Amino acid sequence: MADMPVQVVILAAGQGKRMYSNLPKVLQPLAGKPLARHVIDTVRELAVDKLLVVYGHGGEAVRSALDSSDILWARQTPQLGTGHAVAQALPLLDAAGQTLVLYGDVPLTKASTLMRLLQAGKEGLSILTVNLPDPGGYGRIVRDAAGKVQRIVEEKDASPEERQIREINTGIMSIPSRHLADWLGKLSNKNAQGEYYLTDIVALAVADGIPVRTAQPDGEWEVLGVNSKVQLAELERVHQRNIADTLLVGGVRLADPARIDVRGELSCGSDVFIDVGCVFEGDVVLADGVEIGPYCVLKNVKVGAGARIAAFCHFEDAVIGPAGVLGPYARLRPGTELGAEVHVGNFVEIKNSKIAAQSKANHLAYIGDAEIGQRVNIGAGTITCNYDGANKHRTVIEDDAFIGSDSQLVAPVTVGRGATLGAGTTLTKNAPPNALTVSRAKQVTLSGWERPKKAKN
Ligand code: UD1
Ligand code: CA
Repeated sequence: MADMPVQVVILAAGQGKRMYSNLPKVLQPLAGKPLARHVIDTVRELAVDKLLVVYGHGGEAVRSALDSSDILWARQTPQLGTGHAVAQALPLLDAAGQTLVLYGDVPLTKASTLMRLLQAGKEGLSILTVNLPDPGGYGRIVRDAAGKVQRIVEEKDASPEERQIREINTGIMSIPSRHLADWLGKLSNKNAQGEYYLTDIVALAVADGIPVRTAQPDGEWEVLGVNSKVQLAELERVHQRNIADTLLVGGVRLADPARIDVRGELSCGSDVFIDVGCVFEGDVVLADGVEIGPYCVLKNVKVGAGARIAAFCHFEDAVIGPAGVLGPYARLRPGTELGAEVHVGNFVEIKNSKIAAQSKANHLAYIGDAEIGQRVNIGAGTITCNYDGANKHRTVIEDDAFIGSDSQLVAPVTVGRGATLGAGTTLTKNAPPNALTVSRAKQVTLSGWERPKKAKN
């Protein structure tokens, strides 16, 4: 951390009219996480002394969506500008160290960039700036002949010459806290927008002889803000591409780094391969040698080493054992735990069930609230009838059982070790071990029977 106390103020009171959404702008999701939470999580990497969020539009919705014991809140109503926003936080701020101002709608600034900005501001004020070929809309950094920063001028207040300046204010700055109250108190709203501009404190710092320095991010995308769904979608792609690059650098093989979406944490062992169109949500862990086919969705899933998942699978809150063979079109719902070398084929749905090593359900089955032993074979069309309309009941299938195709197991019911169910069995009582149980009516053949014929008239 920096060598003096750092407190952070995140401005998140703006309305975001151009999002055309009932959801407040700072809560719009990027990679499945609210914009402002990206900022908060980055700040947590810095381990600062104080974290304060200025909120207003969206009010309590913003606060309750982001709240956490390490966050202080200041409400800004009405919103009279960025300087006014920081002034609302003043009663909760200390007059020591640096105050880092961030925006709740600028989600991708890296912690290392913020560290650099804090370093640059150690003896005074520092501003994160970038040079843009097209600086339109931004505040411009005005320097003197010697290159020293003099002030920031907003586009709407700028002269034609000032509008030629390419170096823009990202809005992110570090301010010596002991001057905050004084400088904010001197702001006026006599400008083109009738707002209290935080940017005006730069000229006040210069007047007080406080050094003003600038720092730059590694990438322009780090300082891009979100004002519209177009910008939100653009930043989503930037962010996803960064995640894909990190995976590639870490040794993961991606069929196409432009066609993967990670909305959470994806951690991969060595020699993992991920085909196109996969979405990873929450915490997903892929052990060594896992292969994921195209268009799979995995949410909070652990996949054991060497497992192979074919196309179009949907897994949520599930654990897959090593060397599992799954899909295509398999669905694992919450509470599924599969042992080693379990096979789950197309159109098989499993919920809240444990299936032990080397068991197979290869086609068209529903397994819910079940406990299945090792080396069990579940025939096509097997259904655990776990729900009686009011309560859920468990099905137990012991090791080495064989469930014939198109069987219904009406829970609660147990199939004993090594038992066989004949195809089409509706099991309503326990099936004893090592025996054949079959419930279907005996097959009969009626000889001399003739098909009906169409009547003539
Ligand atoms: C601001 C800067 C400008 C900079 C640009 C970068 C000022 C005066 N101008 O302009 O130099 O180039 O950001 O994007 O600071 N907010 C509040 N309360 C308010 C007003 C704003 O919380 O009363 C929040 C907004 O939610 C937003 C941020 O502050 O997150 C910036 O506000 P915005 O109105 O977008 O500032 P700009 O006019 O773009
Ligand atoms: Ca803006």
